[in-house]
Amino acid sequence: MRLLFLGDIVGRPGRNAVIERLPGLRDRWQLDCVVINGENSAGGFGITEAICDEILAAGADAITLGNHSWDQRETLVFIERQPRLLRPVNYPPGTPGRGANLIDTRSGARVLVVNVMGRLYMDPLDDPFAAVDRELETCPLGQVADAIIVDVHAEATSEKEAMGYYLDGRASLVVGTHTHVPTADHRVLPGGTAYMSDAGMCGDYDSVLGMQKEEAIRRFLQKTPGTRLEPGLGEGTISGIAVETDDRTGLARRVAAVRLGPNLEENWPRFWD
Ligand SMILES: [Fe+2]
Ligand SMILES: [Fe+2]
Repeated sequence: MRLLFLGDIVGRPGRNAVIERLPGLRDRWQLDCVVINGENSAGGFGITEAICDEILAAGADAITLGNHSWDQRETLVFIERQPRLLRPVNYPPGTPGRGANLIDTRSGARVLVVNVMGRLYMDPLDDPFAAVDRELETCPLGQVADAIIVDVHAEATSEKEAMGYYLDGRASLVVGTHTHVPTADHRVLPGGTAYMSDAGMCGDYDSVLGMQKEEAIRRFLQKTPGTRLEPGLGEGTISGIAVETDDRTGLARRVAAVRLGPNLEENWPRFWD
């Protein structure tokens, strides 16, 4: 199978880049499953139902979230009727929505998508390792799920790397999100799980983490109240990871970083062209 995961969509530049590029990439690379983190897609803060529908229509099979899950209050309501939108699985019991789901993709595959949040330098949620364990036990790779994608929304690379090795051999892909900066450590771990510490963001990279530079810099220089952070206005770049899995086992065979757009050095899975 061919999987594509893209990092946090930040505002309109990120949405436009995904909407313009994804339909063509699905076709060109014959993608079986596309998962995108959408926690910053609405003006940098959260996601609305209209934007969620727009990203799904562009070719995403599932959308994950993170610490910005509830920035748009409507998400607390519409997430209950949108099984393809996932919030971190280790929120307290009773939190609206779901943190994992077995998704039927357009190509007919069944992919378990799990969204989990780290605890280092983040809100102290339930144990992310135990939470993912529970999901994988009920839906094992190669038996119930054709592929398993785990989005580890976390600040610390140590926690993300630990999760990658903890799940090695049990998931097709463990990929980090949240920092908005892509790492260069994408690889297949010894047990067959594809891994990348951070997928980066889909957004305007001529910015500070997707937000306009001026106010972001000012906040470091002056400790006085300023204006709201607004997403950049330039052309967006998409960033993430492409994974090819073995159809029999669901484990990864090869990976490539995906960076397409104006600001970063471009890269794509040349083995699919
Ligand atoms: Fe984010
Ligand atoms: Fe985040």
